[in-house]
Amino acid sequence: MSNPVRLQKYLAQCGIASRRKAEELIAAGKITIDGRVVTEMGVLVTPGREIITCQGRKIESREQFVYVLLNKPKGYVTTLADPQGRPVVTDLVQDIGARVFPVGRLDLDTEGALILTNDGSLAQKIQHPSHETNKTYEALVRGTPDPGKIALLQKGVLLEGKMTSPAKIRILSRQGTNCLLEITIHEGRKRQVKKMFSHIAHPVLQLKRTAYGKLSLSNLPIGRYRELNPSDLKNIFL
Ligand code: URA
Repeated sequence: MSNPVRLQKYLAQCGIASRRKAEELIAAGKITIDGRVVTEMGVLVTPGREIITCQGRKIESREQFVYVLLNKPKGYVTTLADPQGRPVVTDLVQDIGARVFPVGRLDLDTEGALILTNDGSLAQKIQHPSHETNKTYEALVRGTPDPGKIALLQKGVLLEGKMTSPAKIRILSRQGTNCLLEITIHEGRKRQVKKMFSHIAHPVLQLKRTAYGKLSLSNLPIGRYRELNPSDLKNIFL
């Protein structure tokens, strides 16, 4: 069963009306919950639990797919629950009214783009190696890798007995004795970016995912999310 959601949002999710029109329907006494007319705004309903009608017609609780892009802060885990009680990313999307889960993982100390959805097939498509979904990261690394070492990562290196696929890498800036690089890979092995840079003896000091394909964080503040529209979803695979 889903999380509680405000009635007007639920009506909109079910395709009954826009959120504003749904509010008008509520105010006009056209909506009932379990047989009782509801005219106040903001009543919480749990999709699938109550019987809700609009002008006498029962609203089917088909759960709609929801897609969001979160700018994950450091210190949040990407599992749904944490035995150690650390904050979980879903704490940051409580108000979307659907039970979403993160697509793939980011380390505790990695920040940046994380898609959450309740659409299992899209999640699978993003993660399946055959789709080669590009993921772009900004990595602050210790020291400045020379062109030979960058070329090594671009071609692929042996990590735990398996070559990494070719990566796109460019230097963005020098930061004191350290260096900020952009790296794009389509694999999603555990701690892959950190392992790749450790392999060439330039450990990652800070890591941020900036994009899935052409879907980028843009100016989304840390800790905030935005809902994705169909063209955003297409951009993931470009
Ligand atoms: N690669 C890493 O090393 N860590 C992440 O969180 C994501 C990619």
